[in-house]
Amino acid sequence: MFITFEGLDFSGKSTQAKLFVERLRKEAYPVLMERDPGGTAIGETIRRVLLDRASAGMGEVTELLLFSASRAQLVHEIIGPALRKGTVVVCDRFYDSTTAYQGSGRGLGIEGIKTINRVAAHSLVPDLTLFFDIPVEELHRRMKGQHSSADRMESSGKEFYERVRRGYLQLAEEESRFMVLDGMKPVQELHVLVWERFQALVLSMAKTGKA
Ligand code: TMP
Repeated sequence: MFITFEGLDFSGKSTQAKLFVERLRKEAYPVLMERDPGGTAIGETIRRVLLDRASAGMGEVTELLLFSASRAQLVHEIIGPALRKGTVVVCDRFYDSTTAYQGSGRGLGIEGIKTINRVAAHSLVPDLTLFFDIPVEELHRRMKGQHSSADRMESSGKEFYERVRRGYLQLAEEESRFMVLDGMKPVQELHVLVWERFQALVLSMAKTGKA
């Protein structure tokens, strides 16, 4: 089973992914947590290049291809083999981030990006995608409250993040695997909603013989 967590920066998705993985472990599921971009030696090197403020001159197509390259390696080296063994794989971001950030945010065009996504993911599609929705004002409020300085992606402006958010909401309307959660809700309340949705997925997969 392959479950992805998505959202704007500072949406709380990584906190929720960690809580979900802890719960899976407690319930004795074989589980693996990964992050995209990253997760492999090659992917972590690409991640550093992507987020480094010294990469300010990076072209939008280069950015798209580097995110995709990191993901292709992650699926090839880790996610594919883990899923074949029956492990539950939880990933902090996956290709919906590319559709929202590069497609809608950078304006690179959704259809072409979907083709690149399919190639990079070796045609793998998440079984469930949890999208934590926060207003862009909240992202900036949370960003100001953190101690480290903004990375290259986080330095993108308010309009960029508005387009990314709209891109995600559009995707959520199109794809039935999406669940939209109100990221302004308390952490524990969100965790309960995530867990309930996961249990519903387990049931429906058992019925259709997928798991
Ligand atoms: P993270 O901090 O949530 O791991 O994400 C790193 C940054 O990269 C974040 O600003 C979102 C961005 N990103 C993209 O722009 N496109 C992508 O395909 C992915 C996976 C992340």
